[in-house]
Amino acid sequence: MTLRDAAAKRGLLIGTCISAAALTEPDYVEVAGREFNQAEPENEMKFGVIHPRRDTNPNPYDFSGADAIVEFALQHNMKARGHCFVWHSQVGDWVTSTSHTPDELSKVLDSHIQTVASRYAGKVYAWDVVNEAFEEDGSLRHTVWYDEPGIGLAENGTAYIEQSFRWARQYDPSTALYYNDYSCDTINPKSDAVYEMVKDFKTRNVPIDGVGFQMHLHLDSNNPATLESIKQNLQRFADLDIDVQITEMDVALESPDEDSLAQQAEIYRAIFEICLGIPRVTAIQTWGFTDKHSWIPGFTKGQKGWALLLDEHYAVKPAYTRILETLQAS
Ligand code: G3I
Repeated sequence: MTLRDAAAKRGLLIGTCISAAALTEPDYVEVAGREFNQAEPENEMKFGVIHPRRDTNPNPYDFSGADAIVEFALQHNMKARGHCFVWHSQVGDWVTSTSHTPDELSKVLDSHIQTVASRYAGKVYAWDVVNEAFEEDGSLRHTVWYDEPGIGLAENGTAYIEQSFRWARQYDPSTALYYNDYSCDTINPKSDAVYEMVKDFKTRNVPIDGVGFQMHLHLDSNNPATLESIKQNLQRFADLDIDVQITEMDVALESPDEDSLAQQAEIYRAIFEICLGIPRVTAIQTWGFTDKHSWIPGFTKGQKGWALLLDEHYAVKPAYTRILETLQAS
């Protein structure tokens, strides 16, 4: 029994991000295709990677990495998920280092979403339309898209987000449209702000289909109060009549000792159990699957890592086994 077989029995998607560079490794391809039924590019659909040159250049886009991952997903009968149209990070230098008027910037983003959404229409079943637009205190993050200079819609803080969703719906009417963010897994000022935005969008028929909760966790999440808050939070979003997905789960450790690995397994188990209890949770995705390829060691300068389900040699860890048991028991 694999994770994807066990998840499929529950009608659940179980996903991983995929790195196009790692697709050259036979073990990577074999395990990803065997264990997961959803795949999402880790970096290859981000603005700066897929659209590295200005539109006046004869060749403004580079679809090679994104195409390879979508192709990999479809060949392995996996759903392909898109990430992401609008983000403050990994935007092409040609956007951030040139001054644009709001009108020019609006045309840049409109055209970007049109080109990328249209290319993958019918292949990518869901998109993170906007990623990480809020700060921890619930205020809007200052970004090139929002107000630096922004796309000219900043009078209502979330108007540029709304416009991005409207463009995405226009250019691919059949894909599901998600807002995606981190540190809004529990009930807190940031998740409150996202909740209010989604509620407002639903009231005014702005096309939003779901919220992605990244779920980048540490061992301190292994306590009843945090887990209960995550449960209540996911449920309140589901109650807005949207789908909920876990989009980037990992549980970072400071060392891969036996006790830490057991606690890590317990956190994965608890999150899966919470999700299985909420019918509107349609997918759980981890941000990679082998500790060999994870963003955490690089980001924490080697202080943390060991965050995923398989170790760097592709051997399963306690977290993998607990998830499989949890899916089978549900
Ligand atoms: O591709 C270049 C390579 O040409 C260059 O030589 C090398 C030198 O630094 O950098 C390479 O780019 C790196 C890229 O990953 C691809 O490996 C970037 O430096 C590095 O910053 C980038 O990190 C990614 C990060 O997003 C960027 O913020 C991580 O792989 C990726 O896992 C991470 O993913 C994000 C999600 O998109 C959003 N949520 C948080 C999550 C974790 O940060």
